[in-house]
Amino acid sequence: MSTTTDRPVPHRWLRRPGPHAPSGTPAATGAPGTTGGSAEHAPSGLSYGADYNPDQWPREVWDEDVRLMREAGVTVMSLAIFSWARIQPTEDTWDFAWLDEIMDLLHENGITVDLATATASPPPWLTTKHPEILPQTRTGETLWPGARQQWRPTSPVFREHALRLVERMAERYGDHPALVAWHVSNELGCHNVYDYSDDAASAFRSWLRERYATLDALNAAWGTAFWSQRYSAWEQVLPPRLAASHPNPTQQLDFKRFSSDALQDYLRAEAAILRRATPDVPVTTNFMVMGETKGMDYAAWADELDFVSNDHYVLPGPQALDELSFSANLTGGIARHRPWFLMEHSTSAVNWQPVNVAKKPGELARDSLTHVAHGADAVCYFQWRQSAAGAEKYHSGMVPHAGEHSRLFRDVVALGATLRDLAPVAGSEQKPSRAAIVFDWDSWWTSELDSHPTDRLRYRQEALDWYSAFLALGVRADVVPVASDLTGYDVVVAPVLHVVPAPLRDRLTTFVEGGGHLVTTYFSGVVDQDDHAWLGGYPGALRDLLGVRVEEFSPLLDHESATVELGGEQLEATLWTEPVDVVDPDVEVLGWYKTGEQAGRAAVTRRAVAPTGRAGERAGSAAYVSTRFGREGLVPVLARLLDDAGVRSELPAAVRGQVELAVRTDGTDDFWFLVNRTAQPVEVPDVAGDVLAGRRLAPSGTTGTASTASTSDVPGALLLDPRGVAVVRRPADPAR
Ligand code: GLA
Ligand code: GLA
Repeated sequence: MSTTTDRPVPHRWLRRPGPHAPSGTPAATGAPGTTGGSAEHAPSGLSYGADYNPDQWPREVWDEDVRLMREAGVTVMSLAIFSWARIQPTEDTWDFAWLDEIMDLLHENGITVDLATATASPPPWLTTKHPEILPQTRTGETLWPGARQQWRPTSPVFREHALRLVERMAERYGDHPALVAWHVSNELGCHNVYDYSDDAASAFRSWLRERYATLDALNAAWGTAFWSQRYSAWEQVLPPRLAASHPNPTQQLDFKRFSSDALQDYLRAEAAILRRATPDVPVTTNFMVMGETKGMDYAAWADELDFVSNDHYVLPGPQALDELSFSANLTGGIARHRPWFLMEHSTSAVNWQPVNVAKKPGELARDSLTHVAHGADAVCYFQWRQSAAGAEKYHSGMVPHAGEHSRLFRDVVALGATLRDLAPVAGSEQKPSRAAIVFDWDSWWTSELDSHPTDRLRYRQEALDWYSAFLALGVRADVVPVASDLTGYDVVVAPVLHVVPAPLRDRLTTFVEGGGHLVTTYFSGVVDQDDHAWLGGYPGALRDLLGVRVEEFSPLLDHESATVELGGEQLEATLWTEPVDVVDPDVEVLGWYKTGEQAGRAAVTRRAVAPTGRAGERAGSAAYVSTRFGREGLVPVLARLLDDAGVRSELPAAVRGQVELAVRTDGTDDFWFLVNRTAQPVEVPDVAGDVLAGRRLAPSGTTGTASTASTSDVPGALLLDPRGVAVVRRPADPAR
């Protein structure tokens, strides 16, 4: 293998010291655009690539792969993700020759490598010799080998073997000129986040000792006075295994926190080895900010990484595109608005949904570019070449079973060209919006526990519905973790913010007193960090701020609904209602229950909050939405709240809802991404700027129709193809 040190200069954004680089991680070297290695390996634009599994193919296919990679214009491949059994065929034998060869081959062809540590799935020899690394379910069943990721996050035996492999990988490839990043494991927690084995039990106890120090404190936090659960020795404490009835809720919550932390700790252990061996190579791992994947608190995990990576797969249904945008937006929030890496998505169908739909024309590029719109500087797929064998053989790739002579591969090549046109976007950040939706793992975990007023509540769905309403109104909103700095926002929507410890209550109060407009909903503010109810009436910790009081929840049965009148519209309320008492004179009722048990009572309220007196401060407000309106019903509710807060759409009225606007900025230029959410062409009037992708219509009055991408700023409407995306560069606007 080649061991030269002419490391390619990774993309600009890979080289910056990540927002999360722990102190001690050396800052990036070299100014943007400088080259330290071979210029052909120094793409300064967006990255393009895939997971690459050459070990599934005979050697002659590799040459064809590389030829097609050049044709597609890919710049980066993620290698060796599931290669442990190939690299270490037995405990004492190692086979790196094939990996040396493919690393060299990619390098010779100008393709960089995001190299996996290869620890994602242990080889059969290891699980046969050490079956004690296999995870156990809540009901005590063993997850046997035969699929993947069959390891306990807390197994000391697994860790010893995996970290030995990480050492070997770092030693062997740390100087390889193709290496641009380390890819720790793969989708940590995808299948093994919850392990209830004895290893987990003992690690859980250590975690609890760290958190509570004394058994008395644990007993208090877990409320063990209930049902005779009081512990008199640490050994009695267990993970929430299958029990006779509802397990203790705080035990369940702490087990979720612990399980996320255990994987984070494992991530840290791999990262520490890599950083010691190769301090200048950035470390990442691929998150799954998508759908109902909820076991991992990625907002906390981000601190371990030099740059954030995400995997996203489209979930078919009426909100598919909204969900994609929401996930991409939240990934940007987790990355603190810095560029991030889209490590995986699909060119077309996946294999793991009940029905796996193929992408329609235009969707391949639109889906990818929607991620770029929200800050992705890399567009990578699972996987380069569709497998011929194995459980993922019906999962699309960049090269399908049909081969290069296919619409799919032509779309892949075309997207490569578009990404090159978008090179100026690389390194720019998500431009903050005036509004934000806050997302909180503790509230997600806790609000969906059992033994609650309803088991129908879905935390992420509620947040997504609010996001859909923003999209329908054409108003940009950031999706940000709850710990983010909220002070710059005009409007903050915190749907089902169930867990509100006192410091969070104080932050939200300060936000409102500083002129911010807070919107929150039913089942918010109800419990503290230990899942203990705030007493005195709901919404608990937020009662004073909202100026309302609720004595009792009144969830609805599936067949029930109520009507709420708001601004002359009749809206359907489902899932949840409450007898809301207005207790503060500054509360205005915006919406009233018209039918059902709560008829005649307030359903949507807003308390005006006077400025605290500091010069320049405006009046803020705290609004409460006591029921579920769903994605369509929320549109008029949100419209009213945004209007009162003075937050307006930046899009021409004619295209709101049809077109999503997302903006990135590098301080000098803003990049407007206009995503056509429809299957029809859409004309967007009056968007000034240089068109980097998409087309501008010739000014009216002249003959001729659309011109292709042009760098000159001509007037005229933008024409978005069906499911098309335009990107326009404009001088940076200092306002949000
Ligand atoms: C995940 C994994 C990949 C592959 C894809 C299929 O993202 O990381 O290895 O299994 O799913 O969608
Ligand atoms: C999860 C992951 C997907 C895919 C499937 C495979 O849903 O999020 O990316 O890997 O598992 O089972």
